[in-house]
Amino acid sequence: MATIRDVARAAGVSVSTVSHVINGTRFVAPETARLVRDAIGTLGYAPNGIARALKGSRTRTLGMIVTASSNPFFAQVIHGLETAAFERGYSLILCNSDDDLDKQLRCFDSLHSRRIDGLVVMTSNADLAFLEVVEARAPGLPRLLLDSPPRDGCCAVADDSVRGGRLGAGLLLGCGFRRIACITGPGPHQRSRSRFEGFALGLEEAGLAVDRSLVREADLTMAGGYAAALELLALPEPPDAVFAFNDMMAVGVLRAAQERGLRVPDALSVLGYDDIELAAYLTPPLSTVRQSAGALGARAAELLIDHLEEERPLPDLISLPPELVLRGSVGRPSTRQA
Ligand code: RIB
Repeated sequence: MATIRDVARAAGVSVSTVSHVINGTRFVAPETARLVRDAIGTLGYAPNGIARALKGSRTRTLGMIVTASSNPFFAQVIHGLETAAFERGYSLILCNSDDDLDKQLRCFDSLHSRRIDGLVVMTSNADLAFLEVVEARAPGLPRLLLDSPPRDGCCAVADDSVRGGRLGAGLLLGCGFRRIACITGPGPHQRSRSRFEGFALGLEEAGLAVDRSLVREADLTMAGGYAAALELLALPEPPDAVFAFNDMMAVGVLRAAQERGLRVPDALSVLGYDDIELAAYLTPPLSTVRQSAGALGARAAELLIDHLEEERPLPDLISLPPELVLRGSVGRPSTRQA
């Protein structure tokens, strides 16, 4: 059965253009519209009857609940999602939960009252209990978790954080570092736990074990990374490299190193995670494990809208591969450290 993507390919246009021609949600040049209609006829494309029937009752609005849109990583994810949704004629209503479960539930009720067609949740409390409440209050509402592990019966889109942790450990070990500290997110933070699992695996593969005296838990903020780094750098035997599980905490580590008179990377190497836009403009520019925030958001929008428009099933998990981005904040162990 032909899909909207087949029609777009045949007509030589984007999926969003096909959607606008079908739904009349935006002006499309007559010649382009004709190409689309010809392709629909040739391929015998017919949007799913149920989906089209429901389309009439659609608001073409997606709802999103995030921990804090002030975090640059979350902001980049939101931008990717909103841009992809807009291309398909959908708008986005955003709520910040500040990782407060009660506020998260009130956010959901507010979004539900606005008859959203689909829900995206990117918080640390996107657990089964919350999803059961959503199902009870909005049976069958299409929903998707972002930056989260898969939950029973709910699609999740996230980076492969275990792989990201291993990449970070492998880089620093490969540079010759052996006293590697890591600053994780809060205990329940699933992404951090996966990164730590990967970090430990990376050390294990090199015949090493995690030195628990070099592990600190923080809160994914600059202040948290700064405080954790001051503790680590005050140890009798301080680390020669720090792997922070997000770039915001790595910014705090850079500040702490500067205060302690440690040049980066000569006296201390620093590795982050996320590759937020700021990372490339720090002094020195931050080496990091990139998870493509924009792609995460765009993929979430595409999956939900394809599900709504085509009734295409939502997969259990879409895991996007992270990649290393080498910049000036990671060097080699100094002769003293060696
Ligand atoms: O900066 C926020 C961090 O927490 C990111 O690494 C993202 O994965 C989120 O879980």
